Amino acid sequence: MIATLNEKTAVADFLPLQGTDYVEFYVGNAKQASHYYRCAFGFQPLAYAGPETGRKDVVSYAVRQHKLTFVFTSSLRPDHPIAEHVRIHGDGVKILALKVEDAASAWQETTSRGGVSYLEPQTQQDEQGSVVLSGICTYGDTVHLFVERRNYQGTFLPGYRSWTDPHFRNTDTGLLYVDHCVGNVGWNQMNTWVQFYEQVMGFRNILTFDDQDISTEYSALMSKVMSNGNGFVKFPINEPAEGKKKSQIEEYLDYYQGAGVQHVALATNDIVHTVRELKSRGVEFLQVPDSYYDDLLDRVGTIDEDLQPLRELGILVDRDEEGYLLQLFSKPVQDRPTVFFEIIQRKGAKSFGKGNFKALFEAIEREQEKRGNL
Ligand code: FE2
Repeated sequence: MIATLNEKTAVADFLPLQGTDYVEFYVGNAKQASHYYRCAFGFQPLAYAGPETGRKDVVSYAVRQHKLTFVFTSSLRPDHPIAEHVRIHGDGVKILALKVEDAASAWQETTSRGGVSYLEPQTQQDEQGSVVLSGICTYGDTVHLFVERRNYQGTFLPGYRSWTDPHFRNTDTGLLYVDHCVGNVGWNQMNTWVQFYEQVMGFRNILTFDDQDISTEYSALMSKVMSNGNGFVKFPINEPAEGKKKSQIEEYLDYYQGAGVQHVALATNDIVHTVRELKSRGVEFLQVPDSYYDDLLDRVGTIDEDLQPLRELGILVDRDEEGYLLQLFSKPVQDRPTVFFEIIQRKGAKSFGKGNFKALFEAIEREQEKRGNL
């Protein structure tokens, strides 16, 4: 019986994903953005592409920390689509790249199910081997690239050269990999994109939060968590819901000028160490009231961590049937109140911190109010 089920699952997974390959941000100043992520988040230089490597109009800086790879890309000319993307959206996530065994098949399987092509399968090579890339569009101007790199030994991608900096050394902060990546979509658009992930990419809806779960006195949102077959890739989708005041999702949509990536959750095995490092390097986090900690252990039960460092650093805890998780959310990391990061450590829990939603969203609303957008 179990074998049959597994066979069925294997047959059903027409888009086997090996995880997140990289996250690419289109930004106004890639050189400075990459420096911020090195200094503040502890990423190490990895690879560079630009005029010196034969790319005349565009520069990209790739940085890495454990299994996390971020790329920061800027246009060198005003009439370039990347410049237009930044003009409209500000700095933001353009590409959620997914690692696959077969990029041509990934493109074929998804476009034949209604996915809109962004990039037809294309082989890029250099002396280190070849990479096959393909891609489809998702919400807003965001895209998924499929990256097949089994025949490539180079540092990052063809067209890039290795980038090292012998003079500026920075330790990492213990960030390991992308745990999940959340998209904000417009009013009543959540189910459209849930269907997209189900039908085009073979994902399934593993959790749903309605506006009763995620509401404060003032504002609300709804969310459905989509996961691929092996659970390596999880994309929650948020839409705004009616409340007395403006939903945080609406504020995002206003400033991003449409749907886009709201936050990327980065996993750590030691959140106290990671958050202490990030704070000491200037990363700003949302602050919940100190009273959150007064009855924390009554709410979540026994945990391995001491309460004092959690309270001192503002780290949140939530428990589900399988265990607990610790998490914390940064403030937006660019001028517009759009993209931010979540730092998460899972200790058995596979959920997303539902018990913290109210405290968190009240913290977000305090920030919204300061901006005059509540
Ligand atoms: Fe999250």
